[in-house]
Amino acid sequence: MQFLFVVYLRLTNVQAFFYGSNMKISNADVNRLADKFGTPLYVYDENKLADNMAAYINNFQSQNFKTEVLYASKAFSCVEMVKLVKNCGLSLDVVSGGELYVAQKAGFDMSKVYFHGNNKSAQEIDYALSVGVGTIIIDNFQELQLIDKLAKEKNAVVKVLFRLNIGVDAHTHKYISTTLFESKFGMMPNGREFKDCLVFITNTKNIVFDGLHCHIGSQVFETNAYKLAIDKMVAVLKQFDKPLTLNIGGGFGVRYTSEDKPVPIAEMCKTLTDYTEQALANNRLKINKLLIEPGRSIVGEAGSTVYTIGFTKKIPTKTFYFVDGGMTDNIRPALYQAKYDCDVVDKGNEKTQKVTVAGKCCESGDLLVEDILLQEAQSGDRLIVYTTGAYGYSMSSNYNKATTPAVVFVKDGKAREVVRRQSYADLVSNDVDGDYYEFL
Ligand code: LLP
Repeated sequence: MQFLFVVYLRLTNVQAFFYGSNMKISNADVNRLADKFGTPLYVYDENKLADNMAAYINNFQSQNFKTEVLYASKAFSCVEMVKLVKNCGLSLDVVSGGELYVAQKAGFDMSKVYFHGNNKSAQEIDYALSVGVGTIIIDNFQELQLIDKLAKEKNAVVKVLFRLNIGVDAHTHKYISTTLFESKFGMMPNGREFKDCLVFITNTKNIVFDGLHCHIGSQVFETNAYKLAIDKMVAVLKQFDKPLTLNIGGGFGVRYTSEDKPVPIAEMCKTLTDYTEQALANNRLKINKLLIEPGRSIVGEAGSTVYTIGFTKKIPTKTFYFVDGGMTDNIRPALYQAKYDCDVVDKGNEKTQKVTVAGKCCESGDLLVEDILLQEAQSGDRLIVYTTGAYGYSMSSNYNKATTPAVVFVKDGKAREVVRRQSYADLVSNDVDGDYYEFL
């Protein structure tokens, strides 16, 4: 008789279980996925992606105003992901012509696209206007003037939100904190620049002023920081005599390790809508619509990266497990000192080895997980790093001419490739033997 035992590996959104000795994600065998698609491999639980989006759609609701959830596609963007976003009924936040192009390729409704960025080029704005992007979030006065000029040339009309820097300290890493006063994003609510914008829009027919935006940072756990942001935005809204749209950004934290205690999506949504209703009532104000734009909290915990362990090395102070990827598929440990949790696949639950998981790049800082207790491993074993779904693939690079890993979506024991692994030929596909031209 076969004895089936199930060990719940970790309390996470990624359902990585040991069934007997096999680790599974959405019932697909992790080692078999690695055999089929190669490593490093980004694996997304497609059900989890859809569940997270449904949690936002179902819980970000109010009786008092309309609501809209935008997926911040910078966290993870590829055509199949954007199609899933479309099917789940969310709107889309893009920050570049490239992200807009992916949205177009996915057949996304352009009226539900919000275009962000502090330095959009004329070409990008022109592109957005040509395809009928619904809303542009304006970072500064020069951008407003440029959009107006280009919209006039095209005889186009576009809705805009103004991004404000409201100076809320979300206590996150300084590189992902966005509304400290020295931040490069947005305008001061009491500053000259914002006033100039408000005057400007009264004199143009090509731009429809729809409301205000703020985003306080990323990987934020403090509900109070959002409440403070809402208070500050409501205070700014008081000067306007028509109900506007209020976009309070994204940034909701996820669980990378047991130290992280994220607020569940449903609870966060309810806190934000309730608090906004209250803040508006206290000020006898109305808004037309409340928007949020989560990225990481939709895709982060739904994604993992599977590697193959190559050599293991012992030095007097450390033991290394070397894996076949590293900072090229996950720059976050090197860039933000981000912490991750990981396991050797199908090696049980006995963690006796204190190791550092290192990548293969020629950089001493190419360490994915430092000083973690792990299962004993040999060359050829697979290692899985959890919660790599956000800003992993999207920040990957070809440093050392590493090829970008494949991305697979897994659902109920089945897997499909949504991004293929780059080939060596891809790495030189833009290289040319150009002619010399004179530039005297
Ligand atoms: N809205 C705006 C205007 C943003 O700038 C961002 C993220 C988001 C929404 C989505 O934030 P999320 O919910 O994903 O935290 N590369 C960094 C994160 C940079 C975030 C940039 N902006 C990281 O890997 O931690």
